[in-house]
Amino acid sequence: MRIPLNFNRRFLTAVTVILATLGAGTVSAKTLELSIQADEPGTQISRYLYGQFAEHLGRGIYEGIWVGEDSDIPNTNGYRDDVIAALKELQIPVIRWPGGCFADEYHWRDGIGPRDQRPVRVNTHWGGVEETNAFGTHEFLNLVEMLGSEAYIAGNVGSGTPQEMAEWLEYMTADNNSTTAQLRRSNGRDKPWNIPFFGVGNETWGCGGNMRPEYYSDLYRRYATFLKAPEGNRPKKVASGGYNEQTNWTQVLASTVNSNMDGISHHYYTLPSGEWEVKGKSTGFPEGEWISTLFNTMKIDGFLALNEAVLDEYDPEGNVGLYLDEWGTWYDPEPDREPGFLYQQNTLRDALVAALNFNIFHRHADRLHMANIAQTVNVLQAVILTEDEKMILTPTYHAFEMYTPFQDSTFIPVDFEEMTEYVLGDIAVPTVSATAATTASGDLVIGLVNLDPHESASIHANLQGFPAQSASGRTLTAGAIDAHNTFEEPAEVEPQGIEVELKGGGLALELPAKSVTVITVKR
Ligand code: AHR
Repeated sequence: MRIPLNFNRRFLTAVTVILATLGAGTVSAKTLELSIQADEPGTQISRYLYGQFAEHLGRGIYEGIWVGEDSDIPNTNGYRDDVIAALKELQIPVIRWPGGCFADEYHWRDGIGPRDQRPVRVNTHWGGVEETNAFGTHEFLNLVEMLGSEAYIAGNVGSGTPQEMAEWLEYMTADNNSTTAQLRRSNGRDKPWNIPFFGVGNETWGCGGNMRPEYYSDLYRRYATFLKAPEGNRPKKVASGGYNEQTNWTQVLASTVNSNMDGISHHYYTLPSGEWEVKGKSTGFPEGEWISTLFNTMKIDGFLALNEAVLDEYDPEGNVGLYLDEWGTWYDPEPDREPGFLYQQNTLRDALVAALNFNIFHRHADRLHMANIAQTVNVLQAVILTEDEKMILTPTYHAFEMYTPFQDSTFIPVDFEEMTEYVLGDIAVPTVSATAATTASGDLVIGLVNLDPHESASIHANLQGFPAQSASGRTLTAGAIDAHNTFEEPAEVEPQGIEVELKGGGLALELPAKSVTVITVKR
């Protein structure tokens, strides 16, 4: 493998991992030979890699999903009709709630019972706004059912007790006549809800309590002990882990918690600059921030690998999964917006970020059991933005929608014979990223990202062991690197059909510059 001459050594490790995983050498022309080894199927790509995260933050829940029954915005029982319809299309497998940082100061009893009698609290993490608790346990779990999704509850370790956490799980899942179960019934829900995932705290190294991993590991053991639910409805329990390149949280948890832990969370946010003080803008950014954002997002490949290596050592049987339960882009606050609401525009760049992450997640599907983008509506790398009664689907939404066939598909290895690079300044990234899988109905799906904002890329793919009869596809691209949808122009960035040619047991297509493409091949 050739390392570019003007390569910045700080970035060596991450790019090495990326190129090595792609099996790539480098060439100068952009006709890329891709072999898709359908005769060597791998692991299942869990649908949970396409999860969402919705926190009580800014206009994520209130206005974004919940407007209340008395709103002029069309709604059903308080949920926005437009947003619910759009979310259904994404076949969302799992939603994490109520935080984030909010989770560790959320007391679930505030959010049950008649809405007009619920206490008003202050959301100290996010803008200091009043939290009416109008959206609580029933409202969230009913949302999950409306969407045909599954619940991932984040419990309060930082400012809550083991008893409070245990009783929340009991409230949601008890099928007996305990006072807690009867309380749920008196609040209008007879049947227990299904709770497949329960997180024990969030970012306990920071907003969740500023703990050390050693201290939290003991707390995890204690809290998890009391998390009980009826057989058949016992959630997988997820410990709060580290972030970025860190492995010490995974290491301490994996070595000191030897039972009652199904997963360890990890968080990684993509910042164009890599610096929290000045992150970079969501629109109107230079090409240098296009490439740095794509480069930075691909570092997750190496971060996952590092944590997987730790788990392989302590858990060779593979019982404990990694849960990347917060990922996505994080930009500087938009001018004239409340900075604590984390509202940001979403451009074609975000769609490429999403697709690059999906391609990476697929390669880690053995150990990566879940990933949740931050966050669903109006917050960070949102799939939907709203303004009063208006709603737009973001480029990230379209990337999620295009990749839905990958949910619960079977991983197929892909290999580029040689790989070109897109280079700007001291950063180099591979020109194209690819992934492939076979679906339950026997189709072959191929996801392709062309990172180069200037040049299209010719692809010729050999389909080993797949008798292709027909192929079709859609691509997401636009004129500008920061192209985005607005409430005035909601269809600026939308997927379009793309020509795919079947020839000689393979397929050929031209990937537009700066694009995300998904091809479906039928046998
Ligand atoms: O997603 C926004 C915040 O980022 C979450 O509340 C927190 O967990 C993380 O730091």
